[in-house]
Amino acid sequence: MESHLKAVKVTDRVWWVGAIDWGLKEFHGYKTARGTTYNAYLVLADKITLIDTVKAPFKEEMYQRIASVIGDPAKVEVVISNHAEMDHSGALPEVIRDLAPEKTYASLMGVKALDAHFRIGGKLTGVKTGDSISLGNMTVAFVETKMLHWPDSMFSYIPEEKILFSQDGFGMHLATDRIFADENDWAVVEQEMRKYYANILLPYSPQVLKLLEDYPKLGLDVKVIASDHGPIWRGDMLAKPFALYKTWAEQTPEKRAVVIYSTMWHSTEKMAAAIADGIREGGAVVEVLPLDAHSRSDVVTRLICAGALVVGSPTLNNGLYPKVADVLTYIRGLRPRNLLGAAFGSFGWSGEAVAQINGYLTDMKAELVTDGLKVKYVPTDDDLKQCFELGLQIARALGERAAAKA
Ligand code: FEO
Repeated sequence: MESHLKAVKVTDRVWWVGAIDWGLKEFHGYKTARGTTYNAYLVLADKITLIDTVKAPFKEEMYQRIASVIGDPAKVEVVISNHAEMDHSGALPEVIRDLAPEKTYASLMGVKALDAHFRIGGKLTGVKTGDSISLGNMTVAFVETKMLHWPDSMFSYIPEEKILFSQDGFGMHLATDRIFADENDWAVVEQEMRKYYANILLPYSPQVLKLLEDYPKLGLDVKVIASDHGPIWRGDMLAKPFALYKTWAEQTPEKRAVVIYSTMWHSTEKMAAAIADGIREGGAVVEVLPLDAHSRSDVVTRLICAGALVVGSPTLNNGLYPKVADVLTYIRGLRPRNLLGAAFGSFGWSGEAVAQINGYLTDMKAELVTDGLKVKYVPTDDDLKQCFELGLQIARALGERAAAKA
């Protein structure tokens, strides 16, 4: 096969053969401003092995990169699928058909999930934690990581290369031609990894903490962590993703409030500005995210370790403004924890929005600092004074909670 695209060496005997999706702007509701990569890895063992595949339209890109190392992709004898989501398994049915590998492995839940997607269960072999397979001169050990972030998710580890393949774990949506984290701008890497954690892994923070606790007990000698998205971790960088995951999974609240709102005729916007000033004057950090300018993905990213979520919406047709409903529905599903909550908004004649926001905040187990602040049509000076006072009250509550934990 002629190869116009090249693989990149990861270790002596492992090559990156994935695809770069420079143009991806949305990943099931998550705005991916910097695109992504779908990482697949070619292991040059006695039995040549492919670890994970790519999203279906990128199959030829992966084949070309494989061909740049071994010529004919059909030399692949073993395929391992660490995660059944289609950004990694989309090309799998065709890989099985085109390359006819001797064996294709997935976790036991992975076999079920892949069969439900592609009806290929008969071609798969299930593995579980503690199992390992021989590739001749190398071995692969498996560790299931259920609900990180799907029931089927698992890690694969090759001791001979000291490399851990962590599927979505420690990954990020970041299209880059520099495949190692240490070759990229750290601020960008940290920001995109935080965003990925917030938008994909946040609901599974208890499982993340359990994995972090159990990980040293696995006794793995890891020098490289190769995830399925974004750059690869190695050397001095290896401890960073563990430390960041611990912080984000613990969700220890900072003395910081995130104010989000939509506005119809600028009344709710004026309320937001007065509340934000009150929070700042009260000695807490405040971030104001008008929803016309900030995506749901950015909002949830800012919510990691925030201490309060303050939400404003006008009442429109007896309900929430559409963008507020969108963002609250998205955030609620991602289950941020340890938040104080407050609702506000203007209304004309019915004013249900504040109560509906309180419902969302209660679902998120947020502790409400107020029943909510409503203003009829356009806020008066007195109304804005009350908004400012609410800001002070939020800052006080943040301070008291921080003092109680100190
Ligand atoms: Fe990258 Fe859960 O798929």
